[in-house]
Amino acid sequence: MASTKKPSTLLYLQELRQKIAHHNYLYHVLDSPEISDYQFDQLFSELQQLESTHPEFVTEDSPTQRVGGQPLDFFEKKAHRDPMLSLQNTYNSEEILQFHDRIQNFLKGQGENFTYFCEPKFDGLAVELIYEHGWLKAAITRGDGITGEDILSNIKTITSIPLKLEHDTITPPELLEVRGEVVIFKNDFLKLNETIEAQGKAAFANPRNAAAGSLRQLDPKVAATRPLKFLAYAPGVIEGLKINSQIEFFEIIRKFKIPNAMDLTHHKKMTFPIYKIAKTIADAVQFYESLEKVRQNLPFEIDGAVIKVNEFSVQDILGKVARSPRWATAGKFKPEQAETQIEKIEVQVGRTGVLTPVAIMTPVKVGGVTVSHATLHNQDEIDRKDIRVGDYVIIQRAGDVIPEVVEVILNKRDKKSAPYKISYKCPSCEQMGERIEDEVAIRCVNPLCPSILIESLKHFVSRKAMNIDKLGEKIIERLVQEGLVESFSDIYKLKKEDLLKLERFGEKSVDNLIASIDASRTPDFAKFIYSLGIRFVGEQTAKALAKKFKNLDAFLTTDLDTLLEIDDVGPKVAASILKNLSSKNFIKEVLKLTSSAGVNIKSIKKNLGSEAFSEAMIFSELTFVITGTLPVPRTEASDYIESRGGKVGSSVSKKTSILLTGENPGSKLDKAIELGVKILSWEELLQFKI
Ligand code: IVH
Repeated sequence: MASTKKPSTLLYLQELRQKIAHHNYLYHVLDSPEISDYQFDQLFSELQQLESTHPEFVTEDSPTQRVGGQPLDFFEKKAHRDPMLSLQNTYNSEEILQFHDRIQNFLKGQGENFTYFCEPKFDGLAVELIYEHGWLKAAITRGDGITGEDILSNIKTITSIPLKLEHDTITPPELLEVRGEVVIFKNDFLKLNETIEAQGKAAFANPRNAAAGSLRQLDPKVAATRPLKFLAYAPGVIEGLKINSQIEFFEIIRKFKIPNAMDLTHHKKMTFPIYKIAKTIADAVQFYESLEKVRQNLPFEIDGAVIKVNEFSVQDILGKVARSPRWATAGKFKPEQAETQIEKIEVQVGRTGVLTPVAIMTPVKVGGVTVSHATLHNQDEIDRKDIRVGDYVIIQRAGDVIPEVVEVILNKRDKKSAPYKISYKCPSCEQMGERIEDEVAIRCVNPLCPSILIESLKHFVSRKAMNIDKLGEKIIERLVQEGLVESFSDIYKLKKEDLLKLERFGEKSVDNLIASIDASRTPDFAKFIYSLGIRFVGEQTAKALAKKFKNLDAFLTTDLDTLLEIDDVGPKVAASILKNLSSKNFIKEVLKLTSSAGVNIKSIKKNLGSEAFSEAMIFSELTFVITGTLPVPRTEASDYIESRGGKVGSSVSKKTSILLTGENPGSKLDKAIELGVKILSWEELLQFKI
């Protein structure tokens, strides 16, 4: 009878899910599986089969539900309850001691008996997991620290992250935010790159890029094929559970099976402790120094040691300076180095026509990543280091930075070698380049050079510019070769029929590409300016320009004096902008984009409240002072103001723009009234518009 059978099926399903979760933990977190992959697959398919015959029993936390749903169109933006700060760096033991001195001075006797919690600085991508009553409800990227993107569908595919928190004796709290880093382990990274290359796609430069690229996938099915791991490092907001220290935080989340540095210590391949509670700063420094020594042997990439005050009560006293906590430091390591040989030197053409010499070397592993290219920057740099083809060299790789040649091993040099001189001939269009006065670079000045066009287009479509994600490097190259695209605006004129004619281009990929182009037609003003690729106009400057000019006409008709009024713009940047604005071709192209190509720039006003930057800047040049008890913690109010460009001062003066008042305001209110300073409540501040 169904009624008697149901509970037992339910119980069996529950048991099966728990078993799978347990083996997942052993495999993915502790790297100590107790059953074979085959046995695991058997369990999993049994669960799948049972669930398909009893769909009414499928639960949200079932391991079968990790990869689900349709690809997303975009990631939803979400604000962090508490901003995600960054860490202040230190670069050697001496600076770590100075960090400790600063803390001691600040505390002046308060919270004297504190300890330091030391752990690795994981080199991946920061994400905040949000558990409500034990259920994983959201996973937000760090973003600008205030607002990130909810990438839950991808995060759910990470098998080591529990979808539901369970423990025999502890009930999960109402709210538990866990911050950590999504990483890819070194051996998984090598395998992933092999697979990717076998598919004819470009390999990832390092595990961090691979992790970032995987998390950005809109289709969770793709993310599910990537060997992502999560390592927790700090709490966000917690409600319904009192935690007093970093170590206690780890102990609790370990019980809920959320992976962290303590678990790593139990990892099979770990032969040394990966975290430490240091009673003195000398102990913390020792941890930093020994971690650097074992760094190469760790199964994942790290770029330093994080040393943080363990006790939360002391962390609270210490607070933060600007965007970083006073209670923590990231002790960075020296870049990793390796020896290899330069096989040849190639010249690459950049977006601005600069010819950059690149060393092609015998592939060598530097800190777990195989490197075969290093930038040689320019002729001056080559002369300074006397780098020649055939030389044995020491190269180094620091984080995301392109590898560089540190020095030549002179005693290994072939006696017959000759100094290297870069050719002025552009390797792409074969026209002679020029060395511009006061510059070390040689530049191809041919406006029709295909390489410059390709590089400019790559910049134009990139994520921080027009964000046409389906228009990859290879497609751009083909479109240029076929003569289908000769300028930015040509992208918007591409027709389905033209694209279908291209070799290996199917109906579906063409539709996706056209949809991706269409979706980019309403950029915000800053991104539009940035995408134009004006020399020296990076993301920040583009934002400053968009804020200043508000619309395209004002920008296109500006002059030197107006440009120099902008904080981010100095004479060099202004000259470069004016050079573009005085070029007929440049103006023609911009106008083509906004007319016949149908690009419709979002106005600044419409943008307010949606895009971090324009919203962020509503308080720029305003100085605030806070008095009384606000309905939110003071730190939250300061973050709110600072993240929107305002400054928070401590005492009221003539320079104060706004006094933010709460209940029981102090004498600052009297002073503000006396000086005629504007007074706002928290609610009024939230309504504040430019
Ligand atoms: S603690 C600042 N611990 O470093 C708030 N951060 O520069 C406390 N990171 O965004 C951060 N490993 O992505 C902390 N063991 C660790 C970390 C770590 C990596 C990253 C994190 C953060 C960045 C700060």
